[in-house]
Amino acid sequence: MIALGSDHGGYALKQEVMKHLEERGIEYKDYGCYSEESCDYPEFAHAVGKAVANKECELGILICGTGIGISIAANKIKGVRAALCHDCFSAEATREHNDANILAMGARVIGVGHALKIVDTFLDTPFSKDERHIRRIAAIEED
Ligand code: RB5
Repeated sequence: MIALGSDHGGYALKQEVMKHLEERGIEYKDYGCYSEESCDYPEFAHAVGKAVANKECELGILICGTGIGISIAANKIKGVRAALCHDCFSAEATREHNDANILAMGARVIGVGHALKIVDTFLDTPFSKDERHIRRIAAIEED
């Protein structure tokens, strides 16, 4: 199950992501927002972040205008590793190296076609499970 969330700036792209996931037969849960009415991205970042952190959903996708605010907010939830990606190389690397569990994107930054390729890359790339990456991810939680 994939957790989806956006603010008004990411709403339209989220609809495209939902259609794309349906075409691929991938189940998702939409944590809002539910229209293009102006709203505050931390609410949806936190809802998706909690769903992923407590393992209700395996991975999440968050979209706002830039992807910046919503990724910053999601990364405040313990256990969340949200990666802002606007290219496929980063989406692949962050799954392999960081075991990122949330993909963040900015709908005002990239087009729909590119965003859907990034979504596919993120969802289809497994974590490498290399010892050095496991060690570094564990160290993120230390202060
Ligand atoms: C909303 O106008 C915009 O600030 C938001 O979508 C996002 O880009 C924040 O980082």
